[in-house]
Amino acid sequence: MSRYCIGNWKQNLGPGETIEYCNQMKESLQKEPLHDRVHCVVASPFVSLPYTGELPQNIERAAQNCSSFSHGSYTGEISAAWLSEVGCRYCIIGHSERRQFMKESSKEVYEKYVQLQQNSITPIVCIGENDMSMKDEERLSFIIAQLSLFSSQESFIIAYEPVWAIGTGVIPSLDWIQVVSHNISSKFPSCHVLYGGSVNESNAESIISIPTVQGFLIGGASLDPKKFLAITHIAEDAMNEG
Ligand code: PGA
Repeated sequence: MSRYCIGNWKQNLGPGETIEYCNQMKESLQKEPLHDRVHCVVASPFVSLPYTGELPQNIERAAQNCSSFSHGSYTGEISAAWLSEVGCRYCIIGHSERRQFMKESSKEVYEKYVQLQQNSITPIVCIGENDMSMKDEERLSFIIAQLSLFSSQESFIIAYEPVWAIGTGVIPSLDWIQVVSHNISSKFPSCHVLYGGSVNESNAESIISIPTVQGFLIGGASLDPKKFLAITHIAEDAMNEG
């Protein structure tokens, strides 16, 4: 199964900064090219999407959200069809920050998923528990319940991101990541399962060594092209060994 390193820029790197980012990325790639064994994807803000088109072709592009409607009187919304038109191959949906701050419901996340599938954009569905103090069984059921609307026959990307691990520098034990990713993979055999939450150059190698983890969703570390590429190279090296 292929692997993914997806950079989630969140509300960072507007158009001007994206131009600078692309230049730095091109420079780093000249020194140390990617070998296309890992899908390297950047999820930029909408307005930076035209500028990420300047990245080398083997860096794919993603959005961080889309409308749950196809088109019409929904002021401020961006349709999945338009994302496809500007070259987006992936789109993050259901990130915990949107669930928390924009009160996005699981139903809405599913409606966005349908829009994306209809427009041939691969959805990256984020799930994860808020509370690390729950009992293991309860915690696992909470995580899996976030996928209850999705069909286990379909192929998409699932990013397991414990909310308490996002931007905190703290990650769960490798055993726990293994338990969750194994559970998700056995219920959704056609999906890629990624881990996200404080992924960096120091912890990437051990996380990617878990057989049921097929890559990363990376926030903070993806804002620096060198760090982002370093993690991608770690994922590539792990594929060579695996
Ligand atoms: P982080 O963010 O890598 O900064 O923890 C991950 C995410 O929110 O997708």
